[in-house]
Amino acid sequence: ELPVFTTAADMRAWVRKQKKSGRKVALVPTMGYLHEGHLSLVKAAKERADVVVASIYVNPTQFAAHEDFDVYPRNPADDRAKLAAAGCHAVFEPESLYVAVPGASEGSNVVGRETQHPDSHETFVSVERLQRPLCGGSRPHFFRGVCTVVTKLFHICEPDVAVFGRKDYQQWRVICRLVRDLDFAVEVVGMPICREADGLAMSSRNARLSAESRERALCISRGLAWAEGAVKEGAVSKPEEVAAHVRGLIEEAGGKVDYVELLHALNLGPISDLTSQPVLLAVAAHFPARDGKGTVRLIDNTVLNNQ
Ligand code: PAJ
Repeated sequence: ELPVFTTAADMRAWVRKQKKSGRKVALVPTMGYLHEGHLSLVKAAKERADVVVASIYVNPTQFAAHEDFDVYPRNPADDRAKLAAAGCHAVFEPESLYVAVPGASEGSNVVGRETQHPDSHETFVSVERLQRPLCGGSRPHFFRGVCTVVTKLFHICEPDVAVFGRKDYQQWRVICRLVRDLDFAVEVVGMPICREADGLAMSSRNARLSAESRERALCISRGLAWAEGAVKEGAVSKPEEVAAHVRGLIEEAGGKVDYVELLHALNLGPISDLTSQPVLLAVAAHFPARDGKGTVRLIDNTVLNNQ
């Protein structure tokens, strides 16, 4: 029977007991609606620790008021079954991780809806430079919310190892820096992107795509694959050329581009050529949601010139 903890105190007590018995603990933070990508992280965690905790928590502070916090897909019963089958050892499924403001719902901690109530949450963790490019452009408070909740999860679960996916490449780099800069005694591991058979990067948000959007969204992974080939063959030499072509493919398929950018793969700084360093090619684009419910924002990436 997979233990499910809903309070920080119970979760921490369980982890401390494991550690007292000499077991190494890994944490896999998630927002639930689990797919094979998440489960690949559980598998990687099992290879690096004795016990694996997965957290399931749709973190309100990383969503802006206009974003999809309310419609983010949720299915905790199904998630628990998948985690049990994957050999996970415990689940942390808190109801809330923020001080409840009297009379307000969890979503009221969403950025932009933060109340000015004197007892509400007011401490945030920011990785100043790395959080700015890519997703930081259209989601200025996103990484502040991610870093804050990951800090809380690290303090509650006290993991020796934490496993993240490189699907959220910038998030992985930001967490690595958070851990380094604030001396967390956690080893951060970044795992490769899991894709559907046709190339689409697995994401909980894919469930919100209409059938037509699901097909059109393939332009993203196809664009990335084109770039990999073109760089390998030396058919392109300028970062802007690559970005323009990938952007064109997405727009042609009816996607609304948030960004297509090429940056230094480790520090996410600007680059001027494709050969003197590993290059991150990162994409974010919107496609229509099913049932006319707005759009779904998809992200994907690849690292070019990564010998
Ligand atoms: P979520 O989007 O649920 O993702 C949880 C973890 O699964 C992240 O590390 C993410 O990179 C990884 N992941 C998602 N899709 C993947 C795929 N196709 N292949 C490999 N890994 C994949 O990321 C978050 O939740 C949140 O921001 C969180 C870190 C939990 C903080 O709230």
